[in-house]
Amino acid sequence: MAAKRDLLSIIDVERDLVGILELAGNLKNRTRAGETFEPLRGRTLAMIFEKASTRTRVSFEVGMSQLGGHAVNLSPQDTQLGRGETIADTAKVLSRYVDAIMYRAYRHEDMVELARNATVPVINGLDNIEHPCQIISDLFTVLEVRKKLKGLKIAYVGDGNNVCNSLVLGAPIVGAHISVGCPPSSRPDPWVVEEGKRIAAGTDSHVQIVSDPKEAVAGADVVYTDVWVSMGMEKEKLEREKLFRPYQVNSALMKHAKEDALVMHCLPAHRGLEITDDVIDGPQSVVFDQAENRLHAQKAILLRLISGT
Ligand code: CP
Ligand code: NVA
Repeated sequence: MAAKRDLLSIIDVERDLVGILELAGNLKNRTRAGETFEPLRGRTLAMIFEKASTRTRVSFEVGMSQLGGHAVNLSPQDTQLGRGETIADTAKVLSRYVDAIMYRAYRHEDMVELARNATVPVINGLDNIEHPCQIISDLFTVLEVRKKLKGLKIAYVGDGNNVCNSLVLGAPIVGAHISVGCPPSSRPDPWVVEEGKRIAAGTDSHVQIVSDPKEAVAGADVVYTDVWVSMGMEKEKLEREKLFRPYQVNSALMKHAKEDALVMHCLPAHRGLEITDDVIDGPQSVVFDQAENRLHAQKAILLRLISGT
């Protein structure tokens, strides 16, 4: 039997990211054509959410159902995890029932612990370090609109958080340049930048981290932002809103990007903070395409990990 495959970091699909994006396109076309395609009939996905979710939860659940399978949602409060059963034991038990586990965790260590003890694939549905499924869907969105990824400049402005980390790793995998504009105190993790540069060296792309948002966005094909206060950081809300204020994606900042640059946000957005209404609702915004594409990308990820397609 082939070893099970996890998706904890976007690096885990470094070799077949392009294939996953192609598969997502194929699955989207089938869905749009009204075709029934149920290769995961009889298969089950367990979903553990330690934090809130709209897109990740619904897209995984609908994705499993469209592929003929089923998803079981587990919130730690309603399971024995919330009463102290270990992650390791939970992983072993769930592996006896389900074909894959999607986990949204506070701590990356817990994600790794679950994956180490599960005999079925574990998919990172966001933790404090990465949000790989989001970036797979986002790269698919850019590819769909621009018909290419190689050589494009993607700028990320704001907090060097989980979404930023996965983008710094994911963009160079597909040969896109990534330029991050963030305060010096909130840069993406150093190992992420180092790893991103390693990947970039092999795909003729660049990873750049700067403090000036205008410099990050200069000539960009894509301008991406995310919340300034990620889940679990609510106590730092006031100071963060002050720190990131110069990094707001607004029409003045967009003037530094290419005229037709795409505007991206993983959502949920805090309008008037990291992004203004006119920009997120403007003609260059693809944020709701990104949200829809979570479904198609999720289905590609599930197929690849569960059935090896
Ligand atoms: N972008 C994203 O992961 O959204 P949810 O938190 O709603 O799942
Ligand atoms: N960085 C955000 C992403 C939400 C989808 C968070 O972790 O809350």
